[in-house]
Amino acid sequence: MLSYQHIYHAGNFADVQKHAVLVKLLQVLAQKPQKFCVMDTHAGRGLYDLNSDEAQKIGEFNSGILPFWEARREPSPLTDYLKIVAAFNSGDDLKIYPGSAKIAQHLMRPADSLLLIERHPGEFAALQESFKDTPAVKIEQKDGFQCLIDRVPPAERRGLVLVDPSYEIKSEYAELPKQLRQAFIKWPQGQFMIWYPILAAEMHTRMLTALRLTDIKDMLVSEIRLEAPPQESFGMYGSGVIIVNPPFGFETTLNEVTQFIAGHLPVKAAGDVFWLNNRQINPETGMLG
Ligand SMILES: C[S@@+](CC[C@H](N)C(=O)[O-])C[C@H]1O[C@@H](n2cnc3c(N)ncnc32)[C@H](O)[C@@H]1O
Repeated sequence: MLSYQHIYHAGNFADVQKHAVLVKLLQVLAQKPQKFCVMDTHAGRGLYDLNSDEAQKIGEFNSGILPFWEARREPSPLTDYLKIVAAFNSGDDLKIYPGSAKIAQHLMRPADSLLLIERHPGEFAALQESFKDTPAVKIEQKDGFQCLIDRVPPAERRGLVLVDPSYEIKSEYAELPKQLRQAFIKWPQGQFMIWYPILAAEMHTRMLTALRLTDIKDMLVSEIRLEAPPQESFGMYGSGVIIVNPPFGFETTLNEVTQFIAGHLPVKAAGDVFWLNNRQINPETGMLG
């Protein structure tokens, strides 16, 4: 049985990047009256108690969400994301961090549908508990990679699939491009968002190269790299998000979010936004270079 539990990392800088981008994508989907579907293939437990022993053990949120939370009254590209985090907390103390599943639910309308997949029995049970008052949200204990292929396209034919694995099994880097391509063939208009860690071993570069060689054309990437990895990050010195079929003009929004996070972390960091098929984004203007 795999041992990864996101509670040890909840609210770290990678979560800030991933969830701030997720908010922006879902806001675009919710602009149109047609209903949409979100599938979260690796949903985690939905809510994370930052006062728990597990979250406090490494305390990654101290160098992730916390500085942004403390500055949340200043308008910024993270304002809407921080308002969602605030909706799960009362007062100024940041106690609860909402994961992707709760953030998605927060931005969805009653007619939209949310499908959450989580394989780990303990996380699955905690996820069910987090959504016990909302029976319309579907929660399944399955393999998220298989669901990525099997469960698209959704009936709504509009929506987003978030693929946020733990990469505990090294083969996931090689398998993901193949699985994503199968899903893309079934649903070429679908939006997919894939998160990956940037580790000292740079395992993600092979994944990006494999994706570049597929026939998936529109893949926009955001990367944040720390100059000096914080001690608690176990060698994760960066974080990346790939968006397949981003909304029109999304590179400007993505660049604003990426540069803002990179520029306001407590350690020196650099943000980069680029198209996987090599169209570069100018970080000064946010426009295609
Ligand atoms: C990075 S965490 C998810 C965090 C969550 N998406 C969020 O942003 O709040 C990855 C999750 O995937 C689960 N997991 C690992 N392998 C899986 C698989 N094959 N299928 C579904 N879930 C899996 C882990 O138990 C863990 O909860």
